[in-house]
Amino acid sequence: MSSGAPRSTWSSRWAFILVTIGSAVGLGNIWRFPYMTGAQGGSAFVLVYLLCVALVGLPLLMAEILIGRRGRGNPVSAMLKVAEENGASSWWGVLGWGGVLGALLILAYYSVVAGWIVEYMYQAIAGVKILTPEAAAQEFAGLMADPLRLIFWHTVFLALTVGVVARGVISGIERASLLMMPALFAILLFLVLWGGMVGNMRAAWHFMFDFKPELLTGQVVLSAMGHAFFSLSLGMGVIMAYGSYLDKHSSIAHNSFWIALADTLVGLLAGLAIFSLTFAHGLEASSGPGLVFHTLPLVFAHMPGGRVVGSLFFLLVLFAAWTSAISLAEPFVAWVTERLGVHRAVAAWGTGFAVWLPGVAVCLSFNDWSGWKLFGLNLFDQLDYLTSRILMPLSGLAVALFAGWIMSRENAQDEIRLPAAQFQLWRQVLRYVTILAIVLVFVYRLMNPDP
Ligand code: PHE
Repeated sequence: MSSGAPRSTWSSRWAFILVTIGSAVGLGNIWRFPYMTGAQGGSAFVLVYLLCVALVGLPLLMAEILIGRRGRGNPVSAMLKVAEENGASSWWGVLGWGGVLGALLILAYYSVVAGWIVEYMYQAIAGVKILTPEAAAQEFAGLMADPLRLIFWHTVFLALTVGVVARGVISGIERASLLMMPALFAILLFLVLWGGMVGNMRAAWHFMFDFKPELLTGQVVLSAMGHAFFSLSLGMGVIMAYGSYLDKHSSIAHNSFWIALADTLVGLLAGLAIFSLTFAHGLEASSGPGLVFHTLPLVFAHMPGGRVVGSLFFLLVLFAAWTSAISLAEPFVAWVTERLGVHRAVAAWGTGFAVWLPGVAVCLSFNDWSGWKLFGLNLFDQLDYLTSRILMPLSGLAVALFAGWIMSRENAQDEIRLPAAQFQLWRQVLRYVTILAIVLVFVYRLMNPDP
C-alpha cells in the first residue's frame, strides 16, 4: 500500500501530545464549550462532560491512536492493514475513507470561519473600535454580505494551513505546533489573569462553576457527548493519522489522558477569561459567532488595554483554529503522498485547492447563494450537519467496533501495552459503553436537529 519510504516519527512523546492538543483545541473550545458549561449546569455540567470524556472520548482517542500506530499509515491504509492482520474484510478500508473525506468537508467550512477570525484580528491590531451593539451587528453583517472579502480571508487562512502541512510532518506540523501551542497557553493564562484584574471574575466563576443540576436534561447529556467527540477531533481519521507517527514505545493511554485533560482545561479557562471580561461590561454570556464577533469586540473597545488584549485574544483563536485545520488536512495529504507517491508539497497544495472550491461555495452561501437551501439549511449548515451529526459519529462507531470487536485481544494489547486489568477495562468500556453511547447520540441528534 505505502510507498515504502521511512515514515516520520514525532521528535518526542511531548511533541505528539502537543501536536494532538493542537488538533483538539479549536473553535469548539472557545466559542462553544464555555457557554455550554455555564448555561447547562455549571459544575454539574462539567461533571457530566468529564464522564463523557472518560467513557466515550478517552476510549476512542486510544482506539484511534492504536489503529494508526499499528497500521503505520494514513487512515485508509492503516485500517486496511490492521484488518488484514486480524483476518477481517478489506471493507474496513472504506470506513477509513469516511473519516478522511469528512475531515476535508469540515476543513472547507472551518477555514471560512477561521478567515473571519483573521479579519477581526487584523482589525483589532489596526485599532478599529466597535462601540455599540448596533455597530457590531452591522460590521458582522457587512462581512457576511461581502463575498469577495469572505473568499479573500478563507484563501489566506487555507494557504497558511496548507503551507504548514506542505513542509512535512516534523518540519511543518510539529514545528508549527511547538511554536503555537505554548504561545496559546501563555496568552490564555494572561487573559485569565487580566480578567481577574480588570474583569468580574466572581460572576464568571459563578456562571461556569455553580452547581446547577436542575439544568441537566437528557438532551444536555447528549449534547455534552457530541461535543466531547468534536472537541477531541474524533472520528475523522485525524487522530489516527497523528497516531501513525507516534513512537512504538510511547504509552497510548498516558498520552491520551494528557490530551483529553488539556483540551477540557483550555475550554474552562477560556470561559473564565471570556466571561469575566464580558460580565464586567454588563453584557450577556453567549456562544458562537455572536460571542466572538458581536460581544467581545464591544468588550475590547471599552476596556483598558483593549487593543492589545483584543489582538491577543484573536491571535489565540487563530492559533487554536490553525492547528486544528492543519490536522484536518493531514489524513488526506498523507493518503495522497503514500498511495499515489506524490511529493508532499504537491499533495498538500492539491488538497488545499480541492478544499478551497467548496469553501468558496460556503462563502457564497451567506450572500449570493443564500436562497439555495436544502431542508431549510444553507450550504454552511448542511456541511456542519453532514459532518458533525452523520460522518463523525458513524466513523467513530466504526473505529469503536473495529478496535473493540474486530482486532483480537492480543493484537490490541500488543500495541496498547497496559496492565491486564486496565486493558480489560478499556476494552470492555469501548465494546459496550462507548458503542451504545455513540448510537444513542447519533439517533437522538438525527431526530432532533437542535441543538
Ligand atoms: N477539535 C476541533 C475543535 O474543537 C475541531 C476538529 C474536529 C478538528 C475534528 C479536527 C477534527 O474546534
